[in-house]
Amino acid sequence: MKPITILIAILSFTAVTIVSSASLPTASPQIPKESKEQPAKVKLATDSVDDKWGEVAFDHTNHTTKNYSVDGKSLINCVECHHTDQPKENLKAPLVTSERTVALTADLLKDAAAAPVKTCRACHLQAGDDSKPLPVIKKDDKDLKVDNEVAYHTNCFACHDAAIKARPDLATKTSGSDPKGCVKCHVAK
Ligand code: HEC
Ligand code: HEC
Ligand code: HEC
Ligand code: HEC
Repeated sequence: MKPITILIAILSFTAVTIVSSASLPTASPQIPKESKEQPAKVKLATDSVDDKWGEVAFDHTNHTTKNYSVDGKSLINCVECHHTDQPKENLKAPLVTSERTVALTADLLKDAAAAPVKTCRACHLQAGDDSKPLPVIKKDDKDLKVDNEVAYHTNCFACHDAAIKARPDLATKTSGSDPKGCVKCHVAK
């Protein structure tokens, strides 16, 4: 190929890449927007826009099949994380949004008629993505926009903080809201 042909090829490839990333779904790149397959191990935040903190490894199998409750004695219910996948009457403030009339379980997804599970990012968009309004909750009488960072952190930290408080030895394995614990989840850039 002549240099000019190569240049045109590179430019058109770049153009296609830019156009397709502009229309990307809101999910983290490796995660489908919705699915009925539970992931085993996923990497979240591979597209982190933060200058310091990159991807987070999350083991879905551990969190759904091992005794990962605060006291380490029982399994976690799917709806502790997938909070919109339960009937409205089960929701506790500030949660009000329900998209499923029965609580999500692994067995439920085997039913061909069951709706797929949405990624958190389908609703909790990443900073800078204003393709739709963010969920809002009242916190200390103020409106708090729940973007991806607030949503995942609130969910992961609440349980990890309580679990580490109950079983201090867990602090070697993971972290919650500890300002020095970021690197226990995120890869530092
Ligand atoms: C279908 C849209 C949708 C999906 C999917 C979703 N959320 Fe939410 N989330 C909301 C809405 C809307 C609110 C605001 C409260 C409400 O309307 O229930 C909210 C509120 C929250 C809050 C604030 C509640 C509090 O107590 O501070 C957290 C944390 C949260 N979501 C985490 C998550 C996580 C983690 C996931 C994925 C496992 C997820 N959400 C998936 C729509 C969604
Ligand atoms: C500790 C929190 C947590 C628990 C508990 C949990 N999940 Fe998840 N789940 C996630 C996260 C985080 C993802 C990755 C996608 C994302 O970031 O939204 C995910 C993804 C999924 C997906 C794929 C969604 C997609 O868009 O690719 C399915 C299906 C799913 N979970 C089903 C379940 C079922 C069924 C249970 C209960 C047996 C369960 N989950 C329990 C946090 C959790
Ligand atoms: C309801 C409780 C609960 C929630 C919610 C939760 N975790 Fe955990 N997680 C645990 C417990 C308990 C452990 C430690 C288990 C052990 O080692 O005995 C743990 C361990 C981990 C570990 C290290 C060990 C492993 O299995 O990978 C990582 C990383 C982790 N969690 C990430 C997350 C992320 C990211 C989220 C939010 C998307 C999250 N967790 C939400 C309970 C929870
Ligand atoms: C329990 C694991 C965990 C810990 C500890 C943790 N994070 Fe996170 N963080 C996450 C997850 C999960 C996400 C959202 C992933 C996604 O949107 O795909 C996230 C998202 C973020 C984002 C947004 C990235 C983006 O551009 O979308 C920033 C910034 C961030 N974290 C900073 C921090 C800092 C600073 C600390 C330490 C004070 C910290 N995190 C501790 C799990 C953790």
